[in-house]
Amino acid sequence: MRLLPALALGALVLPLAAHANDPHSYAQPEQVVVTHLGLDLKLDFPHRQLDGVATLKLDWKNPKAPALVLDTRELKIASVDAVDANGKTRALKYALAPADKELGSKLTIEAPQHPAQVRIAYVTSPDASGLQWLPPAQTADKQAPFMFSQSESIHARSWVPLQDSPAVRFTYDAHVTAPKNLRVVMSAPNDAKHPLDGDFHFDQPHPIPSYLLAIAAGDIAVKETGPRSAVYAEPSVVDGATREFADTEKMIATAESLYGPYRWGRYDLLVLPPSFPYGGMENPNMTFATPTIIVGDKSLVSVISHELAHSWSGNLVTNAAWRDGWLNEGFTTYVQGRLTEALYGQRQADEETLLAIRALQKKIGQMPANAQKLAPDPRGVDADDALSDVAYDKGSWFLRALEQRFGRKDFDSWLKGYFDRHAWHSITTEQMLADLKPNLIDKYPGKMRWDEVQVWVYGTGIPKDAPTPDSPRFDAIDKQRAAFLAGTLPAAKLDAKDWNTQEWMYFLDRLPDAPTLAQAQAIDAAWHLTGTHNAEIGMRWYVHAIAAGDKAVWPAAAEHMTRIGRLYLTLPVYGAFAKTPAGLAYAEQVYAKAKDGYHPLTQQAVERLFAKAKAKQAAAR
Ligand code: BES
Ligand code: ZN
Repeated sequence: MRLLPALALGALVLPLAAHANDPHSYAQPEQVVVTHLGLDLKLDFPHRQLDGVATLKLDWKNPKAPALVLDTRELKIASVDAVDANGKTRALKYALAPADKELGSKLTIEAPQHPAQVRIAYVTSPDASGLQWLPPAQTADKQAPFMFSQSESIHARSWVPLQDSPAVRFTYDAHVTAPKNLRVVMSAPNDAKHPLDGDFHFDQPHPIPSYLLAIAAGDIAVKETGPRSAVYAEPSVVDGATREFADTEKMIATAESLYGPYRWGRYDLLVLPPSFPYGGMENPNMTFATPTIIVGDKSLVSVISHELAHSWSGNLVTNAAWRDGWLNEGFTTYVQGRLTEALYGQRQADEETLLAIRALQKKIGQMPANAQKLAPDPRGVDADDALSDVAYDKGSWFLRALEQRFGRKDFDSWLKGYFDRHAWHSITTEQMLADLKPNLIDKYPGKMRWDEVQVWVYGTGIPKDAPTPDSPRFDAIDKQRAAFLAGTLPAAKLDAKDWNTQEWMYFLDRLPDAPTLAQAQAIDAAWHLTGTHNAEIGMRWYVHAIAAGDKAVWPAAAEHMTRIGRLYLTLPVYGAFAKTPAGLAYAEQVYAKAKDGYHPLTQQAVERLFAKAKAKQAAAR
């Protein structure tokens, strides 16, 4: 632990502690901070690269600082110049260190005279970890190429040289050129009426951390969902997406009624091609979202509630380092639940909560002790792994426990105040606790002891008295599943005709890891899950059917894996195949064909999974 809990208790604020303590960045913000980024980018589709010029405005903190240290990954640096107040440039000496696999290459720019700005000309790699370049064939409409970024957690450095730590916040403006007829969008206010003339300007007036830098370009149509929200998507996708996300304005208004004004202006949604590696990404002013949540019945729109919630938890009040990721994801998952409850009712919210906490309960005991903590010891944590289910689901559970003890009224008023007090700042877990103690725990004595808070934040596992919602419908499903498995209820007699998406997910989640072949076949014969277009159901079904040895599902599973690059929906199916030598061989064939359509992160994840499975099978032989 960086700070012992006992020490954290007394500390009111921890100035600069965050800056010096991000193990995932080479930057030295205690020496100098970037306050504004000016970007000039050319989108070069044929070469799958960005030609970039980044101008960084600097605030020198240490009068003796010899250098500006930046994060980069696979960037080709063409030139580095100091820029004076009159715009005159002067070349600076710089050194690009050999690449570290996880962190990339440290760029050290000698600048003992502390220029107000530094300008870097560079080119990205065609394999930049934070970008995906799609040829027309890999888009929905197959007419034009598409490109998009995914910067969280530490991939912004693969397309812009910068201080890639969430502790550093900067405003940005950008000039982007692209082929005519393509639309370019960024994580800044977007103009739906912008001419598609290949020349775009953006201005993000609020200070954001680097992981919220985002860009996308393609054949993108726009349709309004409200006075300050629209859906951006490929032309063939935009109508369905607009119907699915029709409640966006209501969501924003609900969040505002709970946590104060939406401070960013517009809130638009961009639907990405299916290779987008996540469900959603909370890029400011424009959430990026997977098309897999468009299922026709709004049953998966809590992903949008989640990304919108980040406009308060995460984008406004930001984790200072990835070790504090639960401040982003746990708080957001809590707010997501509140929005779901307000818009779609208590039953929907409780079912979504139960799905998450049952899954966490199943997993958490098998995790290493450090990974079970909301605020883990940061050493040896990969930035992309730092945000596990613990950050999301134990984090939100802690907030629900606080809500239950203090009552909704007082808890809500603390949370709204917390967002206000730390707005536009990046904070550590200890700074959050230093806010919680006087403003909630000590203010209403006798509701929750401080040592209980400490157990939630620094302890392993889940506290025994953690509040769990009731769900009579889930209880009924537990009974039916048990009867089916005992052989007393045939699959066709399951009362599943009216099960919603979450109820199917719950039924499948709690099947035995490997049902018998007869059980799998009976479920599929009665309910035709193979080939479903709801990928949340599909993923769970294929994992179980493959484990049951039901080879009849293999081609449909392969289609699912090829079509969808979202890690959470695709990787488990690879994992199910990789458990047997024959399955692994099949999955490798599927991957060979699917690979070119996958995002670099998905490629890396599948290849790691194969390597592990092979090592395991070799050891067993
Ligand atoms: N910020 C995350 C996505 C993320 C996390 C990207 C860590 C890179 C590293 C986003 O807000 C998120 O949590 N998305 C979820 C959806 C949500 C409803 C749980 C996802 O992508 O599945
Ligand atoms: Zn999130």
